[in-house]
Amino acid sequence: MNNSENKTVIITGAAMGLGLAAAKELAFRGTNLALVDYNEKSLEEARKEIAKQFPDIKTIVVIADVSKEEDVKNYVDETLKAFGRIDGLYNNAGIEGKQASITDYDVNIFKKVIDINLMGVFYGMRYVLPVMQSQNYGRIVNVASVGGLRGVMNQTPYVASKHAVSGMTKNAALEYARYGITANAIAPGAILTPMVAEAFKQVNPADPKKAEREYAQFNPTKRLGLPEEVAKVVAFLLSDDASYVNGQTIAIDGGQSNTYGFV
Ligand SMILES: NC(=O)c1ccc[n+]([C@@H]2O[C@H](COP(=O)([O-])OP(=O)(O)OC[C@H]3O[C@@H](n4cnc5c(N)ncnc54)[C@H](O)[C@@H]3O)[C@@H](O)[C@H]2O)c1
Repeated sequence: MNNSENKTVIITGAAMGLGLAAAKELAFRGTNLALVDYNEKSLEEARKEIAKQFPDIKTIVVIADVSKEEDVKNYVDETLKAFGRIDGLYNNAGIEGKQASITDYDVNIFKKVIDINLMGVFYGMRYVLPVMQSQNYGRIVNVASVGGLRGVMNQTPYVASKHAVSGMTKNAALEYARYGITANAIAPGAILTPMVAEAFKQVNPADPKKAEREYAQFNPTKRLGLPEEVAKVVAFLLSDDASYVNGQTIAIDGGQSNTYGFV
């Protein structure tokens, strides 16, 4: 038995992209899953896909908007009802917002990005931590971004929210390690998910694939990352093997965040 088997992990934003890839990686390792998303149709498709590939894994789905505190409380309650414990939280749901400079940024979209990316991650920890504390065990992985380490042109609320995720992760790590809980964040670079495909459409509506090729040239690997490559790091951080990794924000970006100038 590997140490992810028969554990229970909550994944927010599980319907597609990084969340779905992590769900499959964890299911492969024998972990039972609470799949959370606000996109009901895609979440149901994700559940069916996982059930087909991994028939022995127990899953529940919970429709929730992570920016609503009562929805977050509910996904925690539903997970406890179904599984009796919560070993891990993959606090992944997030949005990019629109691309615009600070003076042009729509204030309501700014607030929405903060509500989902920052408050959503906070609520998740706020309601899961007491459960983990009572178990004297837990693993939290929050999703920041390279935009949580660096500035990104025309994405101020995204960058603000992701720096906040990295900061909140450090605090969770300090405050809860004494209860057997670790909290880490990941900082993915450009990973080929529906969110990134949408960003390339904004950059070059006529030819998004061209924008993607051009972007990849700035990466030392000369390619974008794959959701499966992120999922393996997440599964490690959610496992017992990562027991002394705490409070870190781990870049998964092909080395791009270390570059200065041309590569
Ligand atoms: N893909 C990348 O290159 C990349 C890079 C850095 C960080 N990230 C971060 O990774 C996370 C996942 O991104 P992705 O690329 O898989 O995006 P995605 O858009 O492909 O998938 C995000 C999922 O989250 C769900 N979601 C969004 N807002 C929600 C809300 N309020 N409540 C519940 N569910 C919600 C969506 O319905 C969707 O299923 C995000 O936090 C994103 O900022 C992604």
